[in-house]
Amino acid sequence: MSDAGSLRGLDALVTGASRGIGARVAERLAEEGARVWLLARSGDALDAVAARIGATALPADLADDASVWSALDRLQEAVGGPPGLVVNAAGVFGLEPLATETVLDFDRHVEVNLRGAFLVIRSLLPAMLERGDGLIVNVGSVAGRRAFPGNGAYSASKYGLRGMHEVLLEEVRGTGVRATLLEPAATDTSAWDRHDPDSAPDLPNRSAMLDVDDVAEAVVFVASRPPHVRIPLLQIERA
Ligand SMILES: NC(=O)c1ccc[n+]([C@@H]2O[C@H](COP(=O)([O-])OP(=O)(O)OC[C@H]3O[C@@H](n4cnc5c(N)ncnc54)[C@H](OP(=O)(O)O)[C@@H]3O)[C@@H](O)[C@H]2O)c1
Repeated sequence: MSDAGSLRGLDALVTGASRGIGARVAERLAEEGARVWLLARSGDALDAVAARIGATALPADLADDASVWSALDRLQEAVGGPPGLVVNAAGVFGLEPLATETVLDFDRHVEVNLRGAFLVIRSLLPAMLERGDGLIVNVGSVAGRRAFPGNGAYSASKYGLRGMHEVLLEEVRGTGVRATLLEPAATDTSAWDRHDPDSAPDLPNRSAMLDVDDVAEAVVFVASRPPHVRIPLLQIERA
């Protein structure tokens, strides 16, 4: 646990902040003194998180370019530039064998998990580069590096995110902008609800998963490193 207040003065955007990992990341960043901006689709859930942690809601759909541009314009106007920290935590997760996966569901994974992260990066990176600082934390997954049955669409999006992240690392080298790919193993959130992991023999039990705190602490750790330290990759597993 870092000293409370270690992120005072930092503006942070967290996508996927209406629940799960993103909501807990947002809360921990706020506890550390950051001014936090929350992006997701569910306005009511975002408002509730925002009220609880003292943050600002930016309702937007990562599958709708115009809504993303307008939310991020609002953010940059309020901040007077890009936020110092961007956490791309929004994501969709479903398990389905490739033989029965629907095209719509496949597209949905790529649209949110990969293209959505690109939209956020595309919108904010130019101003970060111009200013010569900023940290982008992309939330990948163990399934962006290892194959698990049923993860065809999800892995396609997360392997893609890892590829984009690795290019980003090369493109920001020496600019002052930093980027980290977090690769958590299975984490106990409502993303698993429809697969009922505790009753499925092939899935990890919830008690064997990471907790959202484990991932949120990793984000706080990365964000509180001094500017000369970059952490390109952080894998998080349950011991
Ligand atoms: N849980 C795990 O086991 C695990 C493991 C490794 C990595 N991850 C990754 O961690 C991230 C968070 O996962 P989680 O488990 O916390 O999932 P979650 O509880 O289902 O939360 C997903 C978040 O993404 C947002 N979101 C989904 N579609 C969106 C869209 N079109 N536009 C904007 N926001 C959207 C959701 O908000 P709205 O529905 O309100 O839009 C929600 O805030 C994801 O990238 C996931 O792939 C999860």
